[in-house]
Amino acid sequence: MFTLPQKDSGTPTTSPGSVSTQGLHSNRGDGLEREGSRKPDQKPLKLYGVGDPTAMFFSDSPYLSSRGSTIKWFWDSAEEGYRTYHMDEYDEDENPSGIINLGTSENKLCFDLLSRRLSQSDMLRVEPSLLQYPDWRGHLFLREEVARFLSFYCRSPAPLKPENVVVLNGCASLFSALATVLCEVGEAFLIPAPYYGAITQHVYLYGNVRLVCVYLESEVTGLETRPFQLTVEKLEMALAGANSEGVKVKGLILINPQNPLGDVYSPGELQEYLKFAKRHELHVMVDEVYMLSVFEESVGYHSVLSLERLPDPQRTHVMWATSKDFGMSGLRFGTLYTENQDVATAVSSLCRYHGLSGLVQYQMAQLLRDRDWINQVYLPENHARLKAAHTYVSEELRALGIPFVSRGAGFFIWVDLRKYLPAATSEEEMLLWRRFLDNKVLLSFGQAFECKEPGWFRLVFSDKTHRLRLGMQRVRRVLEGKSQVAEDAPSC
Ligand SMILES: Cc1ncc(COP(=O)(O)O)c(C=O)c1O
Repeated sequence: MFTLPQKDSGTPTTSPGSVSTQGLHSNRGDGLEREGSRKPDQKPLKLYGVGDPTAMFFSDSPYLSSRGSTIKWFWDSAEEGYRTYHMDEYDEDENPSGIINLGTSENKLCFDLLSRRLSQSDMLRVEPSLLQYPDWRGHLFLREEVARFLSFYCRSPAPLKPENVVVLNGCASLFSALATVLCEVGEAFLIPAPYYGAITQHVYLYGNVRLVCVYLESEVTGLETRPFQLTVEKLEMALAGANSEGVKVKGLILINPQNPLGDVYSPGELQEYLKFAKRHELHVMVDEVYMLSVFEESVGYHSVLSLERLPDPQRTHVMWATSKDFGMSGLRFGTLYTENQDVATAVSSLCRYHGLSGLVQYQMAQLLRDRDWINQVYLPENHARLKAAHTYVSEELRALGIPFVSRGAGFFIWVDLRKYLPAATSEEEMLLWRRFLDNKVLLSFGQAFECKEPGWFRLVFSDKTHRLRLGMQRVRRVLEGKSQVAEDAPSC
């Protein structure tokens, strides 16, 4: 979770008339209650915002450079919820009244399958080449395996090539490396918001690259639209707005499936966004870190690598990692696929600092090549467990009469708690978040995703039943007003 100050600027939008909103809890689960629509007296939302990550920076250290102080400040200011959580983590036996974490996007459902597979004898190999300096792009045997893996699971029209693959320690590093090699200091990427907020620091800490938020709205404004829908019109307006402020935009970030919306883009939408980028000579970083976590069969997921032709292959860079789809966020394995050899080489050069141990590279190659295990054991079971957990939480939310957005991909539900805020402000959103935390359940609040409508929360459901049940009981207690709120506690 990352709360970032943003110096927002943007031209006011005209308020488009609402044609229709979807009924609450439609079959696709992407509906929103009508009461959630914007009221006539509400302020129009901003169209875009140029991020200034250090706008509220104030803690200089005498021991650090100004850059070091800024980097430290990001750490200090970001993770209050997680600090509190780590001091009081729930444990069924040791700390049953500890905090349940429904805030971190991790899949905790398949540890049994993974530990069994990763403990098999074929996983450990120690040979000189694995202990020596590697090719910084990654060992060829692994890049070959990644190319085969992505060709198969992304359904690429032609086999993908190992020379276009770079492997490193996760998508966070990849954002950081790509931002550094694609942009000058102070330049920016467009990103549809709400978005996974940590990207702000990923692109900023080393690269000093900023984000221009393309604000999306929950209101459904047309027959063929859905809440928080990205359109080319919105991208054009944000780009023009940033340009008018003298901000040089170098690229666009797309997350598909999206975090926190769980939305997936159709091939037609993908083509439109990529063509927009090509028109303006923008790079596109496509983050597909949840591509195998689409658990709803009716959702047709299409990787950008499945497109027959990329409008601008030299400026399209695709990311994937095992952190989400294989529930191994601690292992740190990520991969870049790009046809642009300058970009691949520049990122590889940075892999000297972001590389993987030879032993892990070997393990990952073994894992990715085991198609029988992936297709017959891991994916079906993982999807069934994700679906069951998702069903449980969405039914709880329905019982509480809470609207939400979720399409059957990812580990989270984007929950509309606006009706629980006495006023539609970020301060009230924080108060509600704190009330959850005081009642020992950690959620992520909308501001952390640069959501412009206070009252949205991300709730992660990919956890074991007993924790999920207890977490939802605590959520219910807060929402039904039965909680012990901090402000109510007697002062001593
Ligand atoms: C959309 C998205 N991209 C990237 C990451 C970070 O991935 P990694 O753990 O591989 O660095 C996350 C983590 O939550 C994410 O949600």
